[in-house]
Amino acid sequence: MTELVPSRFPHTRMRRTRQADWVRRLTRETVLTKNDLIWALIVHDGSEPKIPVAAMPGVNRLNLDQAVEAAKTARELSIPALALFPHIDPSRKDELGTEAGNPDGFVPKVIRAIKTEVPEVGILCDVALDPFTSHGHDGVLNERDEIDNDETLKRLVEQSLVQAAAGVDVVAPSDMMDGRITAIRQALEDNDYTNTMIMSYSAKYASAFYGPYREAIGSAAALKGDKKTYQMDFGNTDEALRETALDIAEGADMVMVKPGLPYLDIVQRVASTFDVPTYVFQISGEYAQIIAASEKGWLDENRAIIETLSAFKRAGADGIVTYFAEKAARLLSD
Ligand code: PBG
Repeated sequence: MTELVPSRFPHTRMRRTRQADWVRRLTRETVLTKNDLIWALIVHDGSEPKIPVAAMPGVNRLNLDQAVEAAKTARELSIPALALFPHIDPSRKDELGTEAGNPDGFVPKVIRAIKTEVPEVGILCDVALDPFTSHGHDGVLNERDEIDNDETLKRLVEQSLVQAAAGVDVVAPSDMMDGRITAIRQALEDNDYTNTMIMSYSAKYASAFYGPYREAIGSAAALKGDKKTYQMDFGNTDEALRETALDIAEGADMVMVKPGLPYLDIVQRVASTFDVPTYVFQISGEYAQIIAASEKGWLDENRAIIETLSAFKRAGADGIVTYFAEKAARLLSD
């Protein structure tokens, strides 16, 4: 780092290298590319092609065929991967989230359809029970209505194996149970899914910004209480490093911080501490903020998209899970 000596003016003029687009491009330190994007998609098990998500204008729940179409769009735009989040008919939900382990369920069906028709695009899939439980929690409850960590692990293992059997490329546990990466990795090895990657939601905080997502997957109405006994407290940062170190030791190939923009300090700390591919999730509430302000004419949507995604790169992320992936890829192609 050059010493900051104020008296160097006028020899040093920081504005010289900002005076024209060509030199700004030449001196830019971090650059966002399409290779940084993972497209978050909401899929639903009904027949309607697209069902708008009220709290996320521009995002629709897609049916099976539309999900395959989206994968084709991703391929055309060179978006490397999709992340799938299911909305399941409430009649298929129960206390245990049994549907999560159904080998013929909707999620494995979507994975198979995309992998058959668009094998070039990577598929990540959330591992957590919340889309499938009647109470909206990521795990199962014991008789005292507490989330039972070790019982939940069994269900998460089952869910991961079902996804792996369907051909998912990356399982992405988002549940924040202790020991889940060990349990899932061991089961994948034991069942010869040695190439299935794990992207762990390592530092996932209990956040107000998940609101629109819970509407999108239909868990909001059902959710009893909050998720503070398993998701992290927003005051903590050392704890994020411990969580991440454990997940790496347990066999995660990639790690993630979530939410994104309010947690950029965590992204930077995780990325600079560990030599492991690090991702960040620009979540539903962040999406909703940008869209809502843009709809009011208070923000320029396209500029806000590129600026926020670039901020994640600057903080050290190797990639971003975002509902804006298609828009961003088009902007980056122009
Ligand atoms: C739950 C899960 C959540 C998201 C992805 N998986 C929310 C939650 O923990 O309730 C959030 C995604 C978003 O807000 O965009 N396992």
